[in-house]
Amino acid sequence: MELISVEGGRSLSGQLTVQGAKNSVLPILAATILSGDVCRICGCPRLRDVDTAVEILQHLGCRAHWAGGDLVVDTTQLTSSEIPEELMRKMRSSVMFLGAILARCGRADMSYPGGCELGPRPIDLHLAALRTLGAEVREEGGNIHCRGSSLQGTEVVLNLPSVGATENAILAACGAEGVTTVSNAAREPEIVDLQDFLNKLGARVQGAGTSTVVVEGKQPLHGCEHRVISDRIVAATYLAAAAAAGGDIRLEGVDWRHLSTVTNALGAAGCRIQSGDGGIRLQCREPLRGIHPVRTSPYPGFPTDAQAVLMAALLRSRGTTVFVENMFENRYRHVAELLRLGADVRIEGRVAVVCGVSRLQGARVRATDLRGGAALVLAGLQAEGTTQVEAIHHIERGYEDLPGDLVQLGACVRRIVT
Ligand code: EPZ
Repeated sequence: MELISVEGGRSLSGQLTVQGAKNSVLPILAATILSGDVCRICGCPRLRDVDTAVEILQHLGCRAHWAGGDLVVDTTQLTSSEIPEELMRKMRSSVMFLGAILARCGRADMSYPGGCELGPRPIDLHLAALRTLGAEVREEGGNIHCRGSSLQGTEVVLNLPSVGATENAILAACGAEGVTTVSNAAREPEIVDLQDFLNKLGARVQGAGTSTVVVEGKQPLHGCEHRVISDRIVAATYLAAAAAAGGDIRLEGVDWRHLSTVTNALGAAGCRIQSGDGGIRLQCREPLRGIHPVRTSPYPGFPTDAQAVLMAALLRSRGTTVFVENMFENRYRHVAELLRLGADVRIEGRVAVVCGVSRLQGARVRATDLRGGAALVLAGLQAEGTTQVEAIHHIERGYEDLPGDLVQLGACVRRIVT
């Protein structure tokens, strides 16, 4: 069994360059299908989810290989437009390949991605967007069959600013005749990164980062080289780690504007934060204090992906903090594990009340999902004794080397195989 073992009680110091953004590189890998050429994704993080995306591309007939820290993808040859169930179940965000495959092949077949640790993950908005563009979408027997060899540009209105549905609509619109306007689009920085990548391919996309994205479809496309933005949630994780353990760290290569709601919360809790010239410095010398209610919401609101790690940082704060998780139904699964370490967190539906305790005791805990698993490691940094985290495959979906990065910042963390 693989574990992450954490010796608590050490403060953090030093600096770290943050990995490329998982939630950028996944839609960008789907977008490579549109190019029918060779694309070099620079600064691509080595993650389980990236491995799954590469498996999907190879299943479709594409080729991919690593060149140092870059992933080179050749989508010249496409021999299939179908993603099998076992690949869909490995990563539910594989649904974002739907729009790109449909735009390239005029058809796409895949199984329903199913739910995940965070609860049911519906894709009704994705399918509605494709239907609006003129695709025929049949859902039967747990599978999705899309047909649409002549997609027509039009206005696509999303009922919710869904990140994945926005990305699927943009990718499908690249294959539609005429102009598509995606309204009520999600505004995440990863969507801006996708737009930048698509425009390097020769696409004509504008407005990403706002609620209205405009795509002029059917542009002649070619390969490109693109460096993905840094991962704002991984950055938030390390800032929360320094807040949890105390210390003084600097993160390089991070656009502070992408996580300002997180740095605002950590500042309110008593951390000293300096942002600018491509980095963020966090100093934490005093115990944290409870803060204003933290409500997760679509970007630029407080990111749901940072909820668990901020909660971990506040477990020993002086005071109480209320969290309201508005994005997913089941995103407090890490709390039961935090209680094993002596935390005082109470859940009522979407609300979690975190009452700071004076000490946490190391224990054996089990990761329940990607960010919840990272939160358990952060709790271990501030617990007395040793904390061992099981089921670390969840964590490795989104963090290249959480133990190694924390060791670089002075923590005593090891990945062990028992
Ligand atoms: C993306 O997921 C991210 N994943 C998630 O990060 C992130 O938590 C989420 O956006 C919210 O920011 C990737 O980018 C790969 P949504 P996505 O569609 O696109 C509902 C992580 O930790 N909804 O914006 O699946 C949905 O149920 C992961 O890196 C529908 O109802 O999120 C949710 O309540 C976890 N119908 C809300 O919208 C739909 O068709 C937001 O989901 C689609 C979504």
